[in-house]
Amino acid sequence: MRVLGISGSLRRDSHNSALLRAAAALLPPGAELELWEGLKAVPPYDADDDPGLEWRPESLRSLDAAIRDADVVLFATPEYNHSIPGALKNALDWLSRPLAESPLRGKPVAVVGASTGLFGAVWAQAELRKVLSAIGARVLDRELPVGLAADAFGEAGRLADPDLELTLADLLAELQGELAAVAVAA
Ligand SMILES: Cc1cc2nc3c(=O)[nH]c(=O)nc-3n(C[C@H](O)[C@H](O)[C@H](O)COP(=O)(O)O)c2cc1C
Repeated sequence: MRVLGISGSLRRDSHNSALLRAAAALLPPGAELELWEGLKAVPPYDADDDPGLEWRPESLRSLDAAIRDADVVLFATPEYNHSIPGALKNALDWLSRPLAESPLRGKPVAVVGASTGLFGAVWAQAELRKVLSAIGARVLDRELPVGLAADAFGEAGRLADPDLELTLADLLAELQGELAAVAVAA
């Protein structure tokens, strides 16, 4: 299983990017995770700049190709004012046009999130699941809130809380199950 990890944070020391790296160590056998790091280069969506898929800026073409190459996508989102960071929402808006050709349509995806507050970006995760569902992705109906993120990672970048680690490993296994379900249905 090829997993594409997309962090909604542009920050160098992002806890959400750290969460994706922690996930990479918990994948089922045979799976691999690649982190996509081009979010900062995605320009603001403007329909006037959107003449069609083949003419898009390189940042968008690379994101589109990375999603198409992946079997599943794992998003890790921060929470900004109880919602999704604008940069991530902006990239999803690009990816939703034209809707029928979005690389996310039918793609198994899961959402996790980390925040420095107590609640672990639960509202942002819910909003992100809503947006991904609107685009037509197969969204796992679960979340992984990593609160107090500044203290959530320990040795070698692993999640310090073993229960959270187990839940994350279980979520990744469920993503693999979803991929298998897609293959059976095809
Ligand atoms: C503009 C802004 C708004 C924020 N709003 C929230 C919020 O609503 N809820 C929350 O738990 N944390 C909020 N935070 C704190 C972020 O969750 C925290 O900075 C987190 O570490 C960002 O993720 P990152 O480490 O991956 O960059 C906010 C941070 C910023 C910069």
